[in-house]
Amino acid sequence: MAVNDNRAEGLPCSTACHVRARIVTVEEENYRTRTFTTDLHWPHARPGQFAMVWLPGVNERPLSLLSHTPVRFTVAAVGPFTRALHHLQPGDALWVRGPYGRGFPITGRYMVMVAGGYGVAPLHFLAQEARQTGCHITVIVGARTRRDVLFVERFTALGVPLLITTDDGSYGRRGTVADALADVIRGSHPVDAVYACGPAPMLEAVNRLCKAARVPAYLSWEGIMRCGMGICGTCARGAWLVCRDGPVAYPEDDSSTSINAGGIASASHTSRLPR
Ligand SMILES: Cc1cc2nc3c(=O)[nH]c(=O)nc-3n(C[C@H](O)[C@H](O)[C@H](O)COP(=O)(O)OP(=O)(O)OC[C@H]3O[C@@H](n4cnc5c(N)ncnc54)[C@H](O)[C@@H]3O)c2cc1C
Ligand code: FES
Repeated sequence: MAVNDNRAEGLPCSTACHVRARIVTVEEENYRTRTFTTDLHWPHARPGQFAMVWLPGVNERPLSLLSHTPVRFTVAAVGPFTRALHHLQPGDALWVRGPYGRGFPITGRYMVMVAGGYGVAPLHFLAQEARQTGCHITVIVGARTRRDVLFVERFTALGVPLLITTDDGSYGRRGTVADALADVIRGSHPVDAVYACGPAPMLEAVNRLCKAARVPAYLSWEGIMRCGMGICGTCARGAWLVCRDGPVAYPEDDSSTSINAGGIASASHTSRLPR
């Protein structure tokens, strides 16, 4: 992949090749998750889109955008790349290209957002944008246990109703985000759309519920990526490329791809998202 080659295919440089960014701040979110604010500004980026972040000598990985101005990432340290990222301090450099992929649309008047693990980041970005359009939003955040719960203060500061679930009941309601979502869908307020990002089993449960209730679901799936821009085919699920056609699957994708018939869903079991 070219570095700083402004001539590439008429695309803005950061889309076609890496740009150098500096870390401005690092914030602890929980025992293994940090938020990195960079000095990049991508005002055209949409919630649900991602960047390919490169640490020379380590690796390159996809990371969702927490915001576009400035570009921020929320990262769980789970392996060599993410652990190396966690060693970066304000002033350190990293290389970034993007934004890539199809993000979340803002649709309807009542949106419910369901997040597990780092899925809080793109959904916080979406909630922030959707609030400006006057949408009513409920956010459901799930985790295994209290210490895994993310973004309570960030969502509270947005002023949106927040439901928290933990598997062991150590924080919020005991159970899964799907239990909480079922109650919200059964509630008095008709839900126009559900947005979800998190581990594959969580997305599958959300998808089943939404299908049964006939509520459109926009689900952000994980995939192993190399180019991140629809060239190499590494992330292919049938004809559907997670990096280019997703990572957000729209309800209308369902019949035209094999997403929910064992395509993306079953492939996603091979990549584990943090909870
Ligand atoms: C579109 C997209 C957006 C993403 N956005 C984010 C984001 O905003 N923040 C973020 O932290 N991650 C995000 N990820 C996941 C991130 O790219 C992976 O966590 C990353 O690949 C891990 O790289 P690594 O080298 O640290 O670990 P790897 O070497 O890839 O993995 C090390 C070990 O951890 C396991 N593993 C890998 N990923 C995870 C995980 N997420 N949870 C638990 N175990 C895991 C692997 O199976 C392996 O055993 C995103 C992925 C995609 C496809
Ligand atoms: S990662 Fe290369 S086509 Fe998707």
